[in-house]
Amino acid sequence: MKRNSLRWIFNCHRWFPTKDDLLIALSCIQEEERNRIFNFVYKKDVKLALIGQLMLRRCVSDCLDIHYDQVSFRRTDKGKPILPDQLQLTDGEPFDFNISHDGDYCVLAADSIDKIGVDISKVKQSNQQSTDEYFKTMERIFSPQEWKLIKSQDPMTINQSPLHRFHRFWALKESFVKAKAIGIGYELRRIQFNCPTINVPINQIVNDTLVNHDGLLSNNWMFEESLIDGNHFISVALSADDLTCFRQQSTNNFFQFVQFNQLINPNVHVVVTDDFWVKYNNKEEGRHV
Ligand SMILES: CC(C)(COP(=O)(O)OP(=O)(O)OC[C@H]1O[C@@H](n2cnc3c(N)ncnc32)[C@H](O)[C@@H]1OP(=O)(O)O)[C@@H](O)C(=O)NCCC(=O)NCCS
Repeated sequence: MKRNSLRWIFNCHRWFPTKDDLLIALSCIQEEERNRIFNFVYKKDVKLALIGQLMLRRCVSDCLDIHYDQVSFRRTDKGKPILPDQLQLTDGEPFDFNISHDGDYCVLAADSIDKIGVDISKVKQSNQQSTDEYFKTMERIFSPQEWKLIKSQDPMTINQSPLHRFHRFWALKESFVKAKAIGIGYELRRIQFNCPTINVPINQIVNDTLVNHDGLLSNNWMFEESLIDGNHFISVALSADDLTCFRQQSTNNFFQFVQFNQLINPNVHVVVTDDFWVKYNNKEEGRHV
């Protein structure tokens, strides 16, 4: 069986679409997504969501060998984009994909595996609250053991602050709930992470994190953690009965930067009017916090 394994990243902060870019990109995606995306107030959110949709299309088209124009998605009741029945693999081979956007980046992870979830979390200092106040508002998300590690002053963790560790654990938790396609409302303390590698180094993938779900060690899960730019944590959660081959390759599964032109169908028939360009230009960029 051919393994399809993609880890893609796109810097939306540095992307300034031309009119042609925007109209082509919007013509590549489904109408309901186009309308959803255009309701965002800020350009930055339009760009993150738009690139996410393009990544999903290009990924499914390339990995499943489906013509770009024929790719479509539906969402689960919790919002995860999935393939409609007619595009599911008929030979029963597993394949899953997921996107995430935060801060400067949009990312996609896809693999020939039962379940995959990805989350990117930018380390951000609140202007309104101190870190301690912020942690208090988030208390119920992490277990006491996780908070202990997040807040520890251990000299081994000197290079990454409590706020860094908070975002690392956040990305881990979100990637797990996204792989399971469960959404808001899930009791996040039921999921607990144990991280033998205390810091996630830049340019290295950490894959030894373990997860306990309702107090039981879940052996059929693994996590690929990376740190981009020193302040964007990414976690990819993967689940399968046998993770051997995924584990062997995981330390080389670096996120690859992709370019806008790789994600679109350049021959698409443009179906949107110039109005979209005018409306886009009337939006403010918004801060990539
Ligand atoms: C839906 C949810 C999983 C998305 O998380 P997010 O961090 O806001 O957003 P991300 O950028 O990581 O991911 C968004 C993308 O994930 C996909 N997605 C949406 N719902 C999803 C779900 N239930 N499961 C998996 N993927 C989902 C979509 O493609 C979405 O992008 P799009 O709407 O532009 O297509 C999240 O809002 C949620 O329910 N979280 C519950 C857990 C929680 O409270 N965590 C707190 C931090 S630990």
